[in-house]
Amino acid sequence: MSIETQQQDLQQEHQQYIKPLGGFSRTHTCGELSAAHLGVEVRLAGWVQFRRDHGGLIFADLRDRTGLTQVVFVPEVSPNAHENAHILRSEYVIALEGYVRPRPEGMENPNMPTGEIEVVVRSWKLLNTAKTPPFIIDDRIEAAENLRLQYRYLDLRRPRMTRNLMLRHRIVHSARIYLDALGFIEVETPYLTKSTPEGARDFLVPSRVNRGEFYALPQSPQLFKQLLMMGGLDRYFQIARCFRDEDLRADRQPEFTQIDIEMSFVNEEAIMGMAEGLISAVVKELLNKDLPLPLPRMTYARAMSEYGVDKPDTRFELRLRDVTHILNASDVRLFSSAALIKALRVPGGEHMTRKEIDDHTEFVKIYGAQGLAWIKLRPVEGRNDILEWQSPIAKFFSDAERAGLAETLGLTGGDLVFFQAGEPAMVNAALGNLRVRLGERLGLAGKDSHNFLWITDFPLFEYDEEEKRHVACHHPFTSPQEGFLSALTQDPARVLARAYDLVLNGTEVGGGSIRNHTIRMQNEMFEALGLSKEEAEGQFGFLTQALEMGAPPHGGIAFGLDRLTMLLAGEDSIRDVIAFPKTQKATCLLTDAPATASSRQLRELGLMLRETDPQAG
Ligand code: AMO
Repeated sequence: MSIETQQQDLQQEHQQYIKPLGGFSRTHTCGELSAAHLGVEVRLAGWVQFRRDHGGLIFADLRDRTGLTQVVFVPEVSPNAHENAHILRSEYVIALEGYVRPRPEGMENPNMPTGEIEVVVRSWKLLNTAKTPPFIIDDRIEAAENLRLQYRYLDLRRPRMTRNLMLRHRIVHSARIYLDALGFIEVETPYLTKSTPEGARDFLVPSRVNRGEFYALPQSPQLFKQLLMMGGLDRYFQIARCFRDEDLRADRQPEFTQIDIEMSFVNEEAIMGMAEGLISAVVKELLNKDLPLPLPRMTYARAMSEYGVDKPDTRFELRLRDVTHILNASDVRLFSSAALIKALRVPGGEHMTRKEIDDHTEFVKIYGAQGLAWIKLRPVEGRNDILEWQSPIAKFFSDAERAGLAETLGLTGGDLVFFQAGEPAMVNAALGNLRVRLGERLGLAGKDSHNFLWITDFPLFEYDEEEKRHVACHHPFTSPQEGFLSALTQDPARVLARAYDLVLNGTEVGGGSIRNHTIRMQNEMFEALGLSKEEAEGQFGFLTQALEMGAPPHGGIAFGLDRLTMLLAGEDSIRDVIAFPKTQKATCLLTDAPATASSRQLRELGLMLRETDPQAG
């Protein structure tokens, strides 16, 4: 069943709740009337979509959150109702009484669920007027996003936005039902708290009562959910708001929502099994699709090697191949000096134009690449066994190198191959992201596919170039895998974590881990991260104390609700599934937040603003 059909079911389900709302005792909603209601006396309320005057008759489309109904003001039925209908304008709010009749032959609209009928108005009442809206409330008309965000309440009246918020509600609702049935309890945790390290900057809130001190808004409820396990709660969940001050993208907001989960006395398998059940319940509820379980798994090492990223989009083939061993003695200087050389073969890519290749070359520069080498393989007329190698660098390849590439990459006529050489992180990022771009550009990624994939065996640490030290790859509370304990401080780069991410169509939609539940292990982790005993005590003393008081083994996961909704709704931006989102610059165009504080507020908080940027001056 399509999302649209599901949506109709949902609307029907909701009719009964909508009708008694408000003082107008609606008998029906605007989306539900059909030929089954012919002759029925109805009372509707909603917004006027359009008014059209047609020789004696006045038509209007009446909208509420469930859809549109055509209403008609007929002078012979009610001269008064007809006479006054001349004042109606788009977005006026009205309530009306009338009866359902079939539309005249040839006037039916098969594209509208209510397209067979119209409501003849006997009487109506103006509930409110409206200024001319800055954009037309219609999915077919694309208004600029800034305008949509500034007048978000108008944007939310569009069917697509209403549908997205309803889908979001349905995800949360089915998650609650699923988790409740498994004995999870929903617990709220504080927003005014202490820093939780999830790799982003904190939003700070100054305390008036405790001058000079600050709360941090939680980057996630991580430490509280662990403390709930130590409090014996066993199975927790929360639809939790998280706050992260980081660079924003189409799938990142400064405040976003997680379906946050923690369990005691479990291992990875139990958590992943529970998570799969939850995801499959949500997908069934939303798309009426049966997700084949268990979901596929891939190690982090394989993901990086074959896809160049830790969140592979497996909807399409195209793999990265390590060809360092073939090309590192090459005459091409770029190759001979490189730590890693990878190739990405694009079957049928020989038709790509120079302009397109130049465009991809510019794209990979975002990831630190200097350029993008390529070859095209053209079949020679009448000779199946010979390929013509076309490329600015083809002449530098020896016969042995060509043979090696042909074998490793399985080259055939019509192929295009991209190469990237240099530091491994750059090579993987450049080719991995180019792969995703090609998937979109070449239409390889099916819009209706939902490829879920677990990534496992993450490294415990990653090296932070800026800070020149190892930082936790997931967060500092994740446990190392057995067998790596001695390597924790000696060879941190080698240590694998008991962590897992859930990926959907190339986007990370969830992540979690088994935690350190003994004080010894947690202290070793802090030490490996270069945190002194005092620093660890200062930041996380409450946690280490609790670990010494009978902490059960525990672990959990958090799903990004906004991302999950975005992908299941088929949207490209999480802003389209959040009622009141922020812009790329973290501002709210509707309320104009953030805003300056009055001098009185600052004084009360004991704060003073510097005129100049402290970094600069
Ligand atoms: P993590 O940081 O991986 O894990 O976050 C979990 C999921 O939240 C989503 N997400 C975001 N969505 C929108 N905007 C953002 N800025 C953003 N950042 C993250 C992603 C991600 O997979 N406490 C751990 C979970 C755990 O260990 O149980 C955590 O927060 O979909």
